[in-house]
Amino acid sequence: MGSKMKIGIIGAGTIGSVHADAYKKVGDADLVGLCDILPDTLAEKAKRHGIPLTYATHHELLANPDIESVSICVPNNMHAPIAIDALKAGKHVMLEKPMAMSTAEGEAICAARDAAGKVLQMGMVRRQSADAEIVKKAIDDGKLGEIYQIRIRLIRRRGIPGMGGWFTTKAESGGGGLIDIGVHFFDLAMWATSLWNPTRVSAKTYAKFGSPMEDYHYIGMWAGPPNYEGTFDVDDYAAGLVRFGDQATMSFEVAWAANANDEQMLEILGTKGGIKVGGDTVLLTEVDGMLADVKLKYDDKADGFAKELTKFVAAAKGEGEPAATGEQGVVAMKLIDAIYKSSKLNQEVVVGE
Ligand SMILES: NC(=O)c1ccc[n+]([C@@H]2O[C@H](COP(=O)([O-])OP(=O)(O)OC[C@H]3O[C@@H](n4cnc5c(N)ncnc54)[C@H](O)[C@@H]3O)[C@@H](O)[C@H]2O)c1
Repeated sequence: MGSKMKIGIIGAGTIGSVHADAYKKVGDADLVGLCDILPDTLAEKAKRHGIPLTYATHHELLANPDIESVSICVPNNMHAPIAIDALKAGKHVMLEKPMAMSTAEGEAICAARDAAGKVLQMGMVRRQSADAEIVKKAIDDGKLGEIYQIRIRLIRRRGIPGMGGWFTTKAESGGGGLIDIGVHFFDLAMWATSLWNPTRVSAKTYAKFGSPMEDYHYIGMWAGPPNYEGTFDVDDYAAGLVRFGDQATMSFEVAWAANANDEQMLEILGTKGGIKVGGDTVLLTEVDGMLADVKLKYDDKADGFAKELTKFVAAAKGEGEPAATGEQGVVAMKLIDAIYKSSKLNQEVVVGE
């Protein structure tokens, strides 16, 4: 372990707190600054996490020359402006998902990173879980053979977050369940399979539960309670088919809300084996001419956020690579943009056009 890197967190909401707790587990990190535009939230969270310096705006935090790296944990519409300001101020940037509101914003962030010569890591924490790591290893070791189909089912029966707040307001979030939770599994699928070339998409998004807001019945709500004076103008369900050239396909269902049981499943089919992330991780394969189900064992106790931030700090210190790159974030944004476009046009579209 070398000298400790001084860190600031911008955005002291739910995930800002998760980062604050996780940085405590990163040996090389010294969390010194916190910023939020809400004074009460800022004061309460700084006290809770024992962070000495507080800032009412990100500009003030970025003006502190001692802070070398920042976690950006604000609503999606502020990702690109704050990430670009931070890179211009010479800070390394850990940017929460989704990368931005659009491909164009994602590309602007990468350009700012290149101009600054600083590190940018995307917050794709799902990759850090032990089941994801063993699935990736099985694929990299050739256990699946040639991969030709991916299936994603990411279903919340009733899981709309922050109803009426920024999550459900397109101008602040860029979209609903698709951009909020879909991005995790699109990234996971492309990272695990190394298929980073989505080419065409046919998809449809729906909004069947969020509007009117008062009719939405639920048990728990992330970032609640609901604000019935607010806005719901985003998707709560999306389904579609993605082509990766003529090599592979990916079918997906992503729901913040649906009349279906909760499920988090990524299934990958190859010529030698098939595997699932979510639930038991079982490799369906053949051994000596017999069909075999190989249950993969792993330690699932590791804290994914602490692993992610440890990799970020190492990368910022020049001792490793970012756990998820800006370029990969841009591919995910291109895919999401194409899904929304396909839904709007009611037809298959080319990714990136
Ligand atoms: N990796 C994950 O699993 C995960 C989970 C949840 C949320 N997220 C992402 O984290 C981000 C924040 O989500 P959240 O659930 O913490 O939301 P939140 O609403 O709980 O917190 C956002 C905070 O940002 C503050 N804020 C808004 N504009 C700001 C600005 N200009 N400068 C400083 N602070 C500002 C708000 O006052 C609020 O306290 C989103 O992009 C979301 O997609 C990631």
